[in-house]
Amino acid sequence: MWWLHKSEKPSRQEGIVVIFSGIAAVAGILFGYDTGVISGAILYVRDYFALTPWLEGIVVGSILLGALIGSALSGRGADYLGRRTLLIITSLIFIVGTLGSAIAWSIPSLIISRFIVGIAIGVASYTAPLYISEVSPSNQRGALVSLNQLAITVGIVLSYISDIYFAKHGGQWRMMFGTGVIPAFILFVGMLFVPDSPRWLVYKARFSEARAVLQRIRGQQFVDDELDEIVKSIHSKSSWRLLFQDWLRPAVFISLGLAFFQQVTGVNTIIYYSSTIFEMAGFHDAVAAILATLGVGIVNVLATIVSLFLIDRWGRRPLLFLGLSGMTVGLIGVGVAFYSGIDVSWIKWIALFGMILYIACFAISLGPIVWLVIAEIYPLEVRGLGSSIAASANWGFNMIVAVTFLSLIQKFGPSNTFFLYAFLCVMGLWFTYRYVPETKGVHLEEIEANLKSGVKGRHLGRVNR
Ligand code: BGC
Repeated sequence: MWWLHKSEKPSRQEGIVVIFSGIAAVAGILFGYDTGVISGAILYVRDYFALTPWLEGIVVGSILLGALIGSALSGRGADYLGRRTLLIITSLIFIVGTLGSAIAWSIPSLIISRFIVGIAIGVASYTAPLYISEVSPSNQRGALVSLNQLAITVGIVLSYISDIYFAKHGGQWRMMFGTGVIPAFILFVGMLFVPDSPRWLVYKARFSEARAVLQRIRGQQFVDDELDEIVKSIHSKSSWRLLFQDWLRPAVFISLGLAFFQQVTGVNTIIYYSSTIFEMAGFHDAVAAILATLGVGIVNVLATIVSLFLIDRWGRRPLLFLGLSGMTVGLIGVGVAFYSGIDVSWIKWIALFGMILYIACFAISLGPIVWLVIAEIYPLEVRGLGSSIAASANWGFNMIVAVTFLSLIQKFGPSNTFFLYAFLCVMGLWFTYRYVPETKGVHLEEIEANLKSGVKGRHLGRVNR
């Protein structure tokens, strides 16, 4: 596979891991589609149910609230039921919530259905990366886990296309929501065919099953060492108490910090409100604004593909430095464009260029790497629980930014708002420099051993092989 880092494993096994990862990554399509689709659907839902602005906020926000709660409450489930079983249950929840949204007959039924979809997104947002990180060989883990981020970006573009298509055909908002049932069904059927994560099987002391899975995905001759290493790494059972122990603090701090910076640097103001921003910047024609939005979505996909190629070669830290620097420049560009007034005709192109630069740089850095590090950094005993907390924080910060964005613009003006996000990008650079470890090519068990021996956050990826 050209985009994967060179592997020492036979290519048949490499192919199997790509297929398993690809199936789990369908969860990412749902994440992207279901969060993106509302931007077009709301225009029609608003009229159909005669929504007041307050109710409109609740309809839009219910999915984020669901995701926050879903991710927070399911961590133990990922450790007890396993990543695979949880993803199967999640796909069923997706199906119920999606169909509910499509047939909603009243405002409460719509809000509840969107909330249910949100729960599923919240659970899937960390379970899919977790599953993939546990089946991947360490030198390809970055690219394989990032397949999930690629799927998120594809899902967002699909949601824009579906919004445009059904808007043209009479504003069929029920179809906009309902189409999401297709990937949900694919995820359900696909997950029935993939095995449990070998690491989780070891955690449950199901050693012979773990060995059988490892044989399928690594080949006979590579199994013993890996199995040994996983078995040695387990010391206790998942519990909330463990999360508060001193030696785990760096993992909690780094994962929450990355979740914070992924959201407060403003990505979803671009994803959720790009049409509004483009209109403010001077693209008065609605079609131009929609096309520019689609353009941003496509750049997001393309740059994520580039990141798949680089993430296991250059590593996580260089990409974060590069990406956050570019995001800062892009946001300053957007801020300056608004600052200089929108009367000059070329200034809107600076805003467009700034946004494209920003999203491309997000897509090679914070987009994939945050979910990747969240899935890598916790020890097996609390991997489900820990990553669920980080995911939930991510959804919480997402909500705060989504809710405050328009008020910030009203109160401080668009330039200052974008300058604020630029400043937070600079803080993100500092945070990366100080705390984020390089986990390229490192076995999950090595990160865990470093945590246990009290190594500082920044050095958790150190290898003593
Ligand atoms: C983030 C989402 C964002 C998406 C954009 C994901 O990694 O978690 O909040 O909408 O990337 O591509």
